[in-house]
Amino acid sequence: MSAKLILGISGSSRKGANTDFLMAQAMAAAAEIKGIQTELIHLRDYTIAPCNSCFACCNEPAAGGDIPCISFRDGMDEIYPKLKACAGLIIGSPVFFGNLTAQVKAFMDRTEGLLRYGTSSYQYALRGKIGAGIAMGGNRHGGQEFTIQAIHYYYFVHDMMVVGTGPDFTPGCYLGGAGTNYPQRGKVRDAAKVDDLGIKASRMIGRRVAEAVLGQK
Ligand SMILES: Cc1cc2nc3c(=O)[nH]c(=O)nc-3n(C[C@H](O)[C@H](O)[C@H](O)COP(=O)(O)O)c2cc1C
Repeated sequence: MSAKLILGISGSSRKGANTDFLMAQAMAAAAEIKGIQTELIHLRDYTIAPCNSCFACCNEPAAGGDIPCISFRDGMDEIYPKLKACAGLIIGSPVFFGNLTAQVKAFMDRTEGLLRYGTSSYQYALRGKIGAGIAMGGNRHGGQEFTIQAIHYYYFVHDMMVVGTGPDFTPGCYLGGAGTNYPQRGKVRDAAKVDDLGIKASRMIGRRVAEAVLGQK
């Protein structure tokens, strides 16, 4: 049996900074489980236009019905097949003004054609798959939980199955991987490397998604 793919999507504009680091932790923990392969992509490497609300993805089957978004030919063309191929999805975002970054939101909005309304072969492309979230903030209580919930909401709309950090006693039943720069400043690029709780929770997220993808408890 071929290994199941867990796709990680990092929404940080800073290469190799905190969000990328926590996402790499989650991917590494997932890859330790037999039967799992991982791929981590960074949205900053792709040009992604914001959805223009044309609703063509829900009304007009195009090009043999194999293109989920008709309006733009951009980086999403490379990401759509990865979404279709994966069994689990982990989205990680820096916290900007208490919420997701614009890059993550643009990516999310461009998956309207993967919903129940989609008219291409991508209809229901994420349905039933496993999802989890990671958020990295400059403050300790800077909106990480809200940001993870925004990621969860995205998964719910896609009728995905959401997991948190799981049953371990420590650090507890967290919504997702929440990292902080505190007490360092937000501009610090590697503060997450000394955030033990953020690292542990992110690794647990990777493991939980892997277990759920494989149908394990
Ligand atoms: C425009 C902007 C808004 C931000 N808003 C918040 C915020 O609301 N809460 C918070 O905890 N940190 C906030 N931060 C700090 C970032 O979350 C922090 O720098 C984080 O490490 C960014 O992720 P990165 O290291 O992967 O780039 C903000 C940073 C920027 C640039």
